[in-house]
Order: sequence, then C-alpha cells, then structure tokens
Amino acid sequence: MLPVIGTFAPWTDPAVVQIGRLPAHTPLRGFRRRSLDGRWQLEMFESPDAVPATAIDGDRRRAVEVDVPGNWTMQDLDGFDDLPQYTNIQMPFAGPPPELPDRNPTGVFRRSFDVPKAWSSGRVVLGVDGAESVHAVYVNGDFVGYGTDSRLPSEYDVTAHVRPGQNELAIVVVKWSAHSYIEDQDQWWMGGLHRPVWIESRPSTHLADLPITTGYDAATGSGTVSLDAFVSFGGVPEAGWTVRATLFDPNGRQVGSPRTGDVPHEHARPYQFTGFSVAAEFAVKKAKPWSAERPDRYEVRVELIDRRGRSRHVESMLVGLRTIETRDRQLLVNGQPVWIFGVNRHDHHPDRGKAVTVDDIRDDLVAMRRLNISAIRTSHYPNRDEFYDLCDELGFYVIDESNIESHGYNWSVCDDARYRQAWVERGARMVQRDRNHPSVIIWSLGNESGYGVNHDALAGWIRRADPTRPLHYEDAIRIEGWDDGGRPATDLVCPMYPTIDEIRSYGERGVGDRPLILCEYSHAMGNSNGSLADYWDVIVATDGLQGGFLWEWKDHGLRQRLPDGSVRLAYGGQFGDVPHDCNFVADGLMSADLDPHPAAAELAWVYRPVVVTGDAATVASSGSVRVENRRSFSTLRDLRASVVAVGIDGELARRRWKVPAIAPHAAADVALPALPTDTVAVRIEWATAADTWFAPAGHLVAWDEVVVDADPTVPSPPGAQPPGELVTPELSLFRAPIDNDGFKLMPDLARRLRVGGQALATWQDAGVDRTDPERLVGHTVSVEHDATGTTYHHIVDVPPELADLPRVGVAFELPDGFDRTRWFGRGPGENYPDRNRGAMLGVWDGGIDPLPYLVPQEYGLRTDCRWFEIIDSSTGHTVRIEALDAPLHVSAVGYSAAELYDSASSFDLAPPARVIVHIDAAHRGLGTASCGPDVLDRYRLGAGTYEFTYRVTLPD
Ligand code: GAL
Ligand code: MG
Repeated sequence: MLPVIGTFAPWTDPAVVQIGRLPAHTPLRGFRRRSLDGRWQLEMFESPDAVPATAIDGDRRRAVEVDVPGNWTMQDLDGFDDLPQYTNIQMPFAGPPPELPDRNPTGVFRRSFDVPKAWSSGRVVLGVDGAESVHAVYVNGDFVGYGTDSRLPSEYDVTAHVRPGQNELAIVVVKWSAHSYIEDQDQWWMGGLHRPVWIESRPSTHLADLPITTGYDAATGSGTVSLDAFVSFGGVPEAGWTVRATLFDPNGRQVGSPRTGDVPHEHARPYQFTGFSVAAEFAVKKAKPWSAERPDRYEVRVELIDRRGRSRHVESMLVGLRTIETRDRQLLVNGQPVWIFGVNRHDHHPDRGKAVTVDDIRDDLVAMRRLNISAIRTSHYPNRDEFYDLCDELGFYVIDESNIESHGYNWSVCDDARYRQAWVERGARMVQRDRNHPSVIIWSLGNESGYGVNHDALAGWIRRADPTRPLHYEDAIRIEGWDDGGRPATDLVCPMYPTIDEIRSYGERGVGDRPLILCEYSHAMGNSNGSLADYWDVIVATDGLQGGFLWEWKDHGLRQRLPDGSVRLAYGGQFGDVPHDCNFVADGLMSADLDPHPAAAELAWVYRPVVVTGDAATVASSGSVRVENRRSFSTLRDLRASVVAVGIDGELARRRWKVPAIAPHAAADVALPALPTDTVAVRIEWATAADTWFAPAGHLVAWDEVVVDADPTVPSPPGAQPPGELVTPELSLFRAPIDNDGFKLMPDLARRLRVGGQALATWQDAGVDRTDPERLVGHTVSVEHDATGTTYHHIVDVPPELADLPRVGVAFELPDGFDRTRWFGRGPGENYPDRNRGAMLGVWDGGIDPLPYLVPQEYGLRTDCRWFEIIDSSTGHTVRIEALDAPLHVSAVGYSAAELYDSASSFDLAPPARVIVHIDAAHRGLGTASCGPDVLDRYRLGAGTYEFTYRVTLPD
C-alpha cells in the first residue's frame, strides 16, 4: 500500500487532479537547477496496491536500472511484462469511466540526489516534466505530492522534506488511472517518466510567474508589451521589494527606460488587494513584429529587488510582438492573412517512444521546414517546453492542444462532472505555461472528446485568462455544425477529413464569420495523400478557406528486437498487445526514422511559398509567366530562380532568372528567357540563396512547370535490338492494396463496420486479387516484331461490373541485376495520378525503389512516362520502353503485387531477387480513404475500352 495516499487511491478518482502541486506558470530559468536525468532504479509492481511501503524507502532488491527520461515500456524490465500497446479509439481495458483494470503496472522510480548547503536559505522545488499516466512523489520517505496530466510539468515544494547532503527520491508512476480515459489519443500507451526530472533552489522570495501579453498594430507599426510579475514571499510579505522590467529589441538595444514598481505587501484592505504582483507596460514605436516568416524576438528582463536594493532574482523572457485575430472569415497575423501550411505532430521516436529529446524535436522542425511546413498542431497534447522555444526562434505557427481526448467515451465524459476539474486544469495549466510564446497562435481544447459542459467551462477560463488568442475545437463544429455551431468552444471552423466539395461549399456559401482551417486532412497512411493538390486548388481559390494540418508527421513504428535477433519497426499487435488497432498507427508523411515518404515531395510542392503559372500558348507567344508570392510578410529575395528547359532526352538549358521584388501576397508577370525549339516543358525552380538553419544554400524550395509540347516525339536510339524472350508482358489489373483501398490486416473493418476504403473488398468479391486477369476482361494484343524492337498494341474491355479496377496495364519480370532506371516522365520520386502535381516532367535517373512503407503495398509508380529504361549497370544491358500514343505509367520494383499483398510487414519480405516492371495505361488514384474521402471520380477507372501501345527495345 502506498504510504499516505494508498487508502484514498487518488488515481481512481477523476476529480483529484493534484495534491500538493505548485501552480503552473511560465517557465522560469533564473533559478539554480540540477538535472536528475540519468540512470534510475525502477521496481515494477502489478498494481499500486501491491507496492509495499518498503519499496518507497529504498529496498532495492528487485529493481532494474532504466533511463529517465524514458518509457519503461521501451526498456528492459528484466522479465516484468509491460510492453507498448496501441489503440486508436477503443480503450485498452473495459470501462466504464472511471473503472480500472485489476492489473495496473506501477513503477517505483528511485534515485538519490544531493542538496547543497547553500540551498538551505531558500525553497527547494522538484520538477517532474512528464509521467504517464499519474505519479506520486516521496522524498526521504515523506509523501510530497501527486500529479495528473502526463504531458505537462508538475512541480512540488520539497523544502520541508530535504536536508543538506544526500536525499532519497521515489516517484511512483501508475499506468492506468481515471485520467487514462481523457488521454485516449490514437497512439501507443506507454508508461514511465518520459520527460526530464529536476530539482532547483529558489530564493525564498522570488518571481513565481511572469505572464506577458504583446501586441502589434500594423497600421502604425507600433507594438506593446505588458507583463505581470507575480512574487512569492517565502514568509510574511515584506515592504520594500520592487520589480524592475527592462525591454531590449531584437538587436539587444534597450527600448525606453526600465519600468519599476513596488510589490504590494499590505493587504489590510482585502477588498482592494490584487495579489503580490507588479504590472509593467511598454509601448514600442517602429516595432519589429514576430511572424513565422520573420521570427524577431524582444527580450524582457525582469528583476526582483529587495529592500536593500539588491537584485535577488532575474528572469529573461524572449517574446514576440504580434497580434492574432479572426475576422471576416480570416485568421490574421499582424493584420495579414497567412496560409496555414500545417502538419499534426505527435511526440515520437522509434527507440525512445514518447521520451523525445530536444535534438529529436529540432530534427523534426528542420525536416518540416525543408518541406515548407510552417504550422504545427501539437496533436494531441502540450509538448516539452523546448519545442515552443524552437518554434518561436525558427518561426512556426502552433496550435497548442490540451491533453484531453476521451474518444472511447466520446459522448459521456465531456458532460461528466467528475471530470470537470480535469478539463479545466489541463487546458488552464497549458495556457499558464505556454502563454508567452509568440509561436502559439491558437489554443485547442483537445481532440475528439464530444462536446459538453466541461468544454465550455475550459473555454470560459481561457477566454478570460487570455483574450489574445482564438480557440480551436473540432468536435464542437462537427456536432453543432460548421456555419454557426460550437461558438463558445471554437473560433475556427476546423473540420477533420472533409471532402473537397464540403469545404468549397462552406467557403462559397459565405456563411458565418469564421475561417475554415482543416485540423486534420490528407491521411498519410501508407501510399496515400491523393488529391492533396486538389484540396489546395480549392483552398486558395475560395474565400474563407485558409489551409490546414496534414495527418500526420511521422509513422509511430517502434523498433523491436525479435527472438532471432532481427530488428523491425513494429505496429499495433506486434508486441502481443490486445486489443490493438494494427498498422493504423503507421500513418506518417515520414517514417518513424524520419525518412520522407514519397508524399513528402508533393506536400512540399503544395506548400511552396511561390507559385508560377502559365499556359503553353502564352509561354510560347509572349514568353511570360505569372509569379505569385504566397508569403505574408516578405519578398522572395532569399530565393534564386532558375528556368530549366526540359527536352525529351534531358535538360536542354538551365538559366538563372532575374525576378523583380514581389511584395507579400502580390503577383507579377515576368518574361522568360528564349527557349530552345525542342523544349517539352519549362521548369522554374527556386532555391535558397544562402545557408539557412534548415538547409545549405541551393536547397530547392519551390518548383513549377509549364508544358509547351503536349505530344513530343519519342526518339528511338539507333542500333537497338528486339527484346525477344527477355520481355513477356502479361495483362495486369491488380495492385497490392494500399491502406486506402481497405485495411488488408483488419478486413472486418471494411466488411462489418464499413470503416476505411471499400475498394479492396469489392476487388476481392470480384476475384480481382486472385483470378487470371484474362478471364476478367476482354483483352486483345497485337505484337509486331521488326529489326530494332517489338511493338505491342493492347485493347482491354472492362465490363461495367468491374469498373473501378486498380489498374489496366501489363507487367513482366526481369532478372536480378537490373538495378537502375532512367525515364522521361514525372519524377524524380514515386507519383500517382492524383499525387503527381509536385512531380515534374524530366529525364530522371533512379535505382529500383526500396519499399517505403511499413506495411507492404503498391509503390514505385512514375506517371506520364514517354520512355522508361531499366538498366543492368554492371553489363550496361538496357530494356527500353517507349510510349507510342499516350504517355504511360511505369514502375520497376522488387516485388510482385501478390508478394506485397501477402505480406504484413516490410521486414517479412525477403530481399528482392528480380525486377517487376509494370506498364499501366491507367492506374487508380490514391485518395485518402483510410481516414477520409476515397479517390475522386476523375482518378478512377471506369468501364469501357482501354487502348495502349508501346515499343520495347534493347538499345546498345
Ligand atoms: C483523427 C484523430 C487522430 C487520428 C486520426 C487517424 O480522427 O484526431 O488522432 O486518430 O484521426 O489517424
Ligand atoms: Mg482519437
């Protein structure tokens, strides 16, 4: 039984959110802090009730050593069974709230720490920055406090419990609690101390909180900074203490004179007493505002000065001067609309789980900016404090989300009074911690928790505490309607996974006054993100639509060592976890190791800051194109433009292109240099002129093309031979289902619950996945051999009952050794008919693509190819395919559709032993039906006749 609290079992009571915890506050860095991170003793128990008091007191017999920060679910527990478990909506154990399972893994973390003698005069505070799910703290055997909310720091005043020299600390972490029901986010359930633990000394009288509000007036160019310095007196409040605040501009120059104020000490007249706080205000003429494009920051230095004039505590805060408003269906930063080029980001690392380091966070941000991402929703909880510092410094707009999701009990917990306090505390404590960050432009009340009284209680608190930022909450508009629903809880219309038509309709109907920003869209599960560019065509063309946050940044694969010594990235169920939701956790734009999936290139293109448009006729006649600057505050001066003339055999010319300064949100017509006559497409590339924090100079930021010759002649290299027996194309109609076609590992979802894509079930019912395609459709082929090659002409008749096939094309095998590809078509990366707008025409060079997805599925296609070569680089042998009528889609991959279809993990596939070449006349789009709309009609394969012609040769 846990000492002191064991009989009350606060973890079973949703209404107990904390015991003995200090109030949340803006991060303060002016104290002497010692990190307690490192190796800790950990002893695991079957439940909190099974923890003997001796375990707290330091009986170490059964302890293992683990890393803090760390998730115990990711570390070696010497036989104790508690591995990661993945569920999406369902809770991992039976309810209803707040019922808990009997087995409730509980860890007693122990270490000793030193308290210097010099700390005796002040307060000693212990910080636990993140514990999943709840924790209790014991110092030298004394109970100190208890905290909930796994994603915000908890602080405890341990002065009365420590002594100079060595002290013993025990933190008991209980995995399942009444609060687990409101931490039911779609991610791995973990356990442990996943963020830093520290101890610090604070002077007995110190600054305890420093909320700062800033503003910027675009009309006058002036800014404001107002702060409240809250003082905590160690003993009886004394007279004579003052606070001095000084402001410095981004160049370190002092702005105006310091402001000084007396700390109130008397409150004999309680009615008038406003607290031990000093307010200060600064007006800044000619301010340098903060934005994600220009993240200039001012320093606010605040000193607490005692009655003898000595400075006793100094804090320095970096703030940004900026104003956020929603007005006339627009979200405005400093009076300007900004495009929300966003992604949803979870804390995730394949080895560390939720225990991400500051370097991990920085790596994410660098990789994001390389893809032109400038906005992040912290789905679905507040991050480590350093995340926001980095976003302030580097320039990202952030939706900061409260750690509240009760998805499994969507309709009840939000109205459950027992959870009211938890709702308010989670949101309020987030605001209290993060309010000084300019990057945080919107507060989110959480995710997928229905809409109830608890939400409005939290919204009311935030609106009063921080009127400077809008609120976000998706379920309020989902449940009450986009036009005017859920107003108390959300200032944005922030739907998830709507269709393009739905968002267009909201914009065009001109209803309401709220901007529409997609809180989640374009589900990146496996080979996905079809129609990303189609969403943005509508977003940029329609008033009231301003962008969104793609779901989601990274796969949550976890590195797992198997008994045979091999290592894989695991998804739900692969740890023996029951219940689980399988590979739905692998839905990132990046792999868990931060390798970009092919869709990343499309996203970077869709989010490009400069857009060039033109049509063939204009480019040919007047030679000019339209250049549009999509930034809100800066020109394109930091980018160098080049014009590339692309021919059927390669680049014909590449020239620097001088573009006049184009103001933010402005566009200009700019003349192109003269083009070589055999130009097929003109590509305009924009690269960084200088080294930046995210990439060396020359990093490609934006690109566009104008096709000037829609029907180029494909040359046949001289001296070619016919392919003979080497190439035997066979009809092919099936593709290894992508996650959007249907969850092959969770067939019940489509068939019984109608969840996710239905295409796979339809194909299975029609036998497309296993029947000889010649028996499914009408197919005639004529083959003509001549001295230099073989020409194939196919006519395929798709009957009405087989409409919406995966592909119509042919496939053949080449022996191992063919290891290179070259082609004229869209590239350089994998692309599909509804995800190829960012893939440009050109002559590209590649290898045989490795499978980029955790669950094997169709991959590797290149659309709109005029010719395609597969090359054995050791012998030079080449197989060349030439499209004779319309361009064709081609892939050269290491596995057949059947092999990919039959396999559940990319780690189960043997290394490729041959090359499978697909030539498709048509290929179904990707869509995002794993969570969202299926493929648009125009990217589907209707019934009817498909005719295609190509020639195969073996060039010299
Ligand atoms: C949303 C949810 C996310 C995630 C996503 C699907 O409904 O907010 O947390 O579950 O769907 O991957
Ligand atoms: Mg959910």
